[in-house]
Amino acid sequence: MPRPRGTGLVAGVLALLAFSCCSATLCDGLRSPSRGGRRLASQAARAGPAVLAAAALPLRPPLPLRRQPLRPLPPPSRPRWVQLWADEFNGDALDGSKWEALEGDGSAFGIPGWGNNELQVYTGRRVNVRVQSGSLVITAQAEHAGSPYGRYTSARLRTSGRFAVAPSATYPRVRIEARIKLSAGDGMWPAFWMLPEDWAYGNWPASGEIDILEARNGMDYVLGSAHSGGVGALHTINGGTPGMLADGWHVYTLEWEAKQLRWYLDGVQYLAVRSANGTQAQNGWYSLGGGPDNPDAPFDKPFHLLLNLAVGGNFPWVSPDVVAATLAAGPKRMWVDWVRVSGRTP
Ligand SMILES: *[C@@H]1O[C@H](CO)[C@@H](O)[C@H](O)[C@H]1NC(C)=O
Repeated sequence: MPRPRGTGLVAGVLALLAFSCCSATLCDGLRSPSRGGRRLASQAARAGPAVLAAAALPLRPPLPLRRQPLRPLPPPSRPRWVQLWADEFNGDALDGSKWEALEGDGSAFGIPGWGNNELQVYTGRRVNVRVQSGSLVITAQAEHAGSPYGRYTSARLRTSGRFAVAPSATYPRVRIEARIKLSAGDGMWPAFWMLPEDWAYGNWPASGEIDILEARNGMDYVLGSAHSGGVGALHTINGGTPGMLADGWHVYTLEWEAKQLRWYLDGVQYLAVRSANGTQAQNGWYSLGGGPDNPDAPFDKPFHLLLNLAVGGNFPWVSPDVVAATLAAGPKRMWVDWVRVSGRTP
């Protein structure tokens, strides 16, 4: 049977291609053709053997093929963390665009003793709040007799009106963390925490409160809390873990998603609290001020950050004499190396 015309030509081209494969560069090109190579190959497939021969012929003698520069890949669709806000405390004064230093004993807010029978008056003076050597330093101290500020002074900072955060469609998971060093002392009560920016579900605790760090006295235990419920119907879920918090720097972290809050000490999770999904389940958070459209109230609205060092009050629960003895021995401090907030893309 006679061979069909043209078969001999195809066989010749294939032989030529096989011969040319002694060039490693060409073999690479054949294994993973560039976009141009792929276009030639598909044109050849449409046009038949003659075009394939024309494409292959210039390879004799083989010329070194210049590699195409790698094209940048499209951005990965993997989730990534983006910093949303931070204070590294690298200046020499408190940054008023980030923090407000509250003043007084709470009376101006209708809560003398700041709602917890605390003994200190907050001021924005440098003796109570300063930025030095890369850290924020909050100092609680006894005041001299006749001080217009009372017996003890300290500081309480907040980002209200400047920065507040909640999970969003852009960042469904947010992380709020700070690197903090504490000084132990009976009667001391440092905190890194969050309050609602807009109080959308009503007065405390209906609009919620998140305590990322609370510690007291010997500073040997970190407590995290989510306060919700309603006015006069406080619903608290909290938990903690032992830690020698005054022995050096530690990182206190909250991760917040639509239906879950998680607390970490030095990267180790010790507490998770879930939404009660619009019910009043005791093992979940809820707000009596939320409605059917807000199953994750109150932790579905932006919260601002607070840092303070309280003296005495309901949490340390020591007698005023013990507090007096602590601060008679010298000031107590809370150092903050940085506060950082980041969000993770979906
Ligand atoms: C609320 O719903 C989520 C799922 O959407 C679930 O994981 C969680 O356990 C629920 N909360 C409670 C307290 O049952």
